[in-house]
Amino acid sequence: MRELLDQLIEKHRPKCREGEVPGYIPILREQNPLSLGITVISTDQEIVSAGDCPVHSTLQSISKVFALILAIMDCGEQEVFDKVGMEPTGDPFNSIYKMEVFSHAKPLNPMINAGAMIVSSLIKGSSVSEKVGRLLYLVREMAENDQIQINEEVFRSEWEHAHRNRALAHFLRELGLIDDVDETLEVYLRQCAIGVDCVDLAKMGFCLAQYGRTYSGKQLIPPSIARLVKTFMVTCGMYNASGEFAIKVGIPAKSGVSGGILASVPRRMGIGIFGPALDKKGNSIGGVAVLEDLSREWNLSIF
Ligand code: DON
Repeated sequence: MRELLDQLIEKHRPKCREGEVPGYIPILREQNPLSLGITVISTDQEIVSAGDCPVHSTLQSISKVFALILAIMDCGEQEVFDKVGMEPTGDPFNSIYKMEVFSHAKPLNPMINAGAMIVSSLIKGSSVSEKVGRLLYLVREMAENDQIQINEEVFRSEWEHAHRNRALAHFLRELGLIDDVDETLEVYLRQCAIGVDCVDLAKMGFCLAQYGRTYSGKQLIPPSIARLVKTFMVTCGMYNASGEFAIKVGIPAKSGVSGGILASVPRRMGIGIFGPALDKKGNSIGGVAVLEDLSREWNLSIF
């Protein structure tokens, strides 16, 4: 397995030159666009890594999956989906377009920023730090790594430049979908800045693949919620590239603007990837290419 992963990383590393590290979170611009790393954990309990994981690797949008798990565990499906829809958008992740067009409807799903901010606001806790602390606890348990922390530098860098997200939060406030703009934005941006590496992502993907059971065998998340979030990963996890990704790769996956991809092959495998150079839709260009080959090689598509 190690040999194949090494080969795929070296095969696709040059492709990273065609991508770009994002500009709107200044600190992420400092990442090496040519770094590309992967970890695979399969049900035979093997953990295999290849390539390199960049510094400042954070969850970014991948955190939307864990926030959704926690919000549903806290409030139940009914309360969450009263405020956020279940449909893919076909629009960029930070778009508000459909909400305006459809006469101030709720955000279409919890994987776009507008929907994700509502989800973050539903996490129980009497302060930002209690809400974020509870999410951090879930992430640490899923990854079985109590060293996982918020990367304060990444949080600050985004907080100071979060003009679009702040605007989205104000719009949600106007519609009565959240109560407090500053608190919601801070919880959301702190969850995005949770620092992880490829092994952490692979372990979390493995936990979802095992319907909420961790690598060490603890049932952490109700199986029905693990199933629900994997379904969102299929329909909305790769933003407006989700359709093409489902055809070419066919694995529930969630990407982040940090170049991270968490993939979860039901009952078989968790995969974590970091490759900071992104394609036009915001997904790791090298990471998607590696997953395409892996899926073909190991017949991983769920379809
Ligand atoms: O809210 C944002 O814009 C970022 N913190 C996260 C966006 C993201 O990861 C989208 N990924 N493709």
